[in-house]
Amino acid sequence: MSLDILSGPPISAPVFEEDPLDLMDEIDALKREKNASILAHYYVDGEIQDIADFTGDSLKLARDATTVESPTIVFCGVHFMGESAKILSPEKRVLMPDLLAGCSLADSCPHDALKAFQDKLRAEGREFVTVAYINTTAATKSLCDWIVTSGNAREIIDKLPADKEILFVPDQHLGRYLMEVTGREFILWPGSCMVHEIFSLQDLLRAKRNKPGSVILSHPECPQNILEVSDVIGGTEKMRRHVQSIAEPTTFLVATEPAMIHAFKQVAPQHEYIPVPGIMASTGETCACNRCPHMARNTLAKVRDCLRDEKPEIVWQPYFEQARDVLRRSLLQ
Ligand code: 13P
Ligand code: SF4
Repeated sequence: MSLDILSGPPISAPVFEEDPLDLMDEIDALKREKNASILAHYYVDGEIQDIADFTGDSLKLARDATTVESPTIVFCGVHFMGESAKILSPEKRVLMPDLLAGCSLADSCPHDALKAFQDKLRAEGREFVTVAYINTTAATKSLCDWIVTSGNAREIIDKLPADKEILFVPDQHLGRYLMEVTGREFILWPGSCMVHEIFSLQDLLRAKRNKPGSVILSHPECPQNILEVSDVIGGTEKMRRHVQSIAEPTTFLVATEPAMIHAFKQVAPQHEYIPVPGIMASTGETCACNRCPHMARNTLAKVRDCLRDEKPEIVWQPYFEQARDVLRRSLLQ
């Protein structure tokens, strides 16, 4: 053997990409064999949305989980979504392609920290209801009175007694926006979504100027400075319905996770969609550097593996029992 080979640069093992079409065929066959349904959030890759039996926002998917007939669900989204599906449908087996798919919002409001804060407020004699965005762990949900999603938050908050304060966790931006639309004052938890926080106002305004007549679509998880310049503010399902309702080809500047654009194109291919930041680079190229790293953990190969191996699974935990009442009351009634 020549010494040159021994002293050369390290040789890394080749990475074999599996053909997505083969993977889709395998998934289809496994789905039938295992009698499983795939639920996918609009933020997972388009190819996963394409093979899903149900796609939707957090609210729709939580409800779909209770009506699917198959005994097994593969939940392509993030951990709190799989947990909510299991809690609302305990008799079903809920698998997830990657249990490490978390959420920066859920991480920002751990059970013990919320409990300590609630105890402090009670010790001060404050009377309040705790309203949690669905982007929380089941343990945190078990401490709350109501769970809201971007799709039902206003409706629930409008029903809350006027003589009680509202402690809203964990998203400070969604909370501030809801204070504005409902006219209620909240005690805000200082959490935020790592994806929606990074949009640049300056780049967004430049994009708008470069595309006269364009419409800015924003998720209410965005900070106030982005929402202030937005034309349409709504959760993912509301945005999807909005683009579908406009027949005239329009340019939309999309201030949310860019995988959402796949769902928009399914229902409204006539429009142009530019992720924010999109056309800001001096080259004029679009970029989608705002992908949620947690949602991106869902891949076709992992969907196939979890169907084949029947794991990883969301396993029932004792505290799911307490979270079940509040989830049912909030999302199903
Ligand atoms: P919705 O689909 O309910 O609008 O939620 C957005 C989100 O950030 C999910 O993690
Ligand atoms: Fe959580 Fe934000 Fe990712 Fe949604 S987009 S899962 S809120 S980190």
